[in-house]
Amino acid sequence: YSKHLIAPSVLAADFANLQKEIEMVNSSEADWFHIDIMDGVFVPNISFGFPVMQAINKHAKKPLDVHLMIVDPDRYLQTCRDNGAEVITVHYEACTHLHRTLAAIKELGCKAGVALNPHTSVDVLKDIVQDLDLVCLMSVNPGFGGQKFIEHTYRKISALRELAVASNPGLLIEIDGGVSSANAANLLRAGADVLVAGNFVFSASDPIETIKGLKEVNVN
Ligand code: DX5
Ligand code: ZN
Repeated sequence: YSKHLIAPSVLAADFANLQKEIEMVNSSEADWFHIDIMDGVFVPNISFGFPVMQAINKHAKKPLDVHLMIVDPDRYLQTCRDNGAEVITVHYEACTHLHRTLAAIKELGCKAGVALNPHTSVDVLKDIVQDLDLVCLMSVNPGFGGQKFIEHTYRKISALRELAVASNPGLLIEIDGGVSSANAANLLRAGADVLVAGNFVFSASDPIETIKGLKEVNVN
């Protein structure tokens, strides 16, 4: 029995029936709501912004895990918290003063996360890993749901687990992109703690059962 968390990505939900989709997640075994905010600058797509996140927060009965795919995220940290974020993850590639940004997130009372694009080595976290609550390893290029999982991610999970073992054993490793029942067990075996799943959950004929399947995946 593995103690991992499941975070369905609302990006893949039916936006015209958002309340129904949120209630589905509320009544499931999911642990968090994964909220993808994109600005059309850091990534080549625009998802939704804080008014929509506020509407989600009104109905969500589980923590909001907010993934900011935006440039200069410092400008929006307060708004993000005010709209219900419990975890705020910024991109390593979008932060010139990452240490300051992480301190600002914690100052707001949120858990602080950093996301790495597929091309960014986990080695860049060597001098900041002790200040992190979570690292989100992108297993697709951010911007879109429904993409193919990048296999190299397994090696990054192992390397990050090794990096964290001495300085931050409680670090949560989150995997985002192309997660399904086909790779969940292997991701957990490699050292993942949080699995984000968008299309695999929301496009399923029975999303609640699909979440249950990810939650109860056998890692042995
Ligand atoms: C991609 C987002 C992901 C996305 C995952 O930029 O950060 O959270 O919603 O969707 P799937 O699980 O469909 O790859
Ligand atoms: Zn995401």
